[in-house]
Amino acid sequence: MTPGKFITLEGVDGAGKSTHLGFVADWLRGQGREVIVTREPGGTPLGETLRELLLHRDMDADTELLLMFAARQQHLAELIRPALARGAWVVSDRFTDASYAYQCGGRGIATERIAVLEAWVQRGFAPDLTLLFDVPPEVAEARRSAARTADRFEREADSFFSRVRNAYLDRARAEPGRIRVLDARRSIDALQDDIAQLLEELA
Ligand code: TMP
Repeated sequence: MTPGKFITLEGVDGAGKSTHLGFVADWLRGQGREVIVTREPGGTPLGETLRELLLHRDMDADTELLLMFAARQQHLAELIRPALARGAWVVSDRFTDASYAYQCGGRGIATERIAVLEAWVQRGFAPDLTLLFDVPPEVAEARRSAARTADRFEREADSFFSRVRNAYLDRARAEPGRIRVLDARRSIDALQDDIAQLLEELA
């Protein structure tokens, strides 16, 4: 059995990535693949419980980082690794790039700390493709304020999201083969043409 592939969607809150999650899944299903759609933090019953805490309870920045990776360990063990092993493709709304962007870029935790947790939990595992939905801070801010009640992250200042965005773009520059930057100001149709092309390259 050929293992499945792991695709992640990333971007600052308000970049619009979640709109495209269903498109990615439907496109892959159209190719006859079994597809699992999931998210982080979350994706398992325990992970969803941790998500509630992460999004709504005040906590120390290192506690936040550790809980993100606790949820990720469970996600990998219970859902992601078994699904890929049986040949399913897994599409996740966020993964470890979000920890580098939010906890490192946004909160200021040292990259080395995150790298230690990444090596521990992932043991070399990484997404096959990451779609990074990029928008300037003012566009993301306008989309966030039009959205539902803000969680603990969405209430952060604009400067926080600028740092998050820059950290994402730095990662994309360091790993241009895996992380593909999409200008998310463009129309949904234009973006989906590009996404389909990237998926075609992977399939
Ligand atoms: P979501 O709103 O895209 O579902 O993501 C929930 C929030 O969690 C979002 O504001 C980003 C944040 N987050 C981190 O700070 N670090 C992480 O590692 C992950 C996966 C998400």
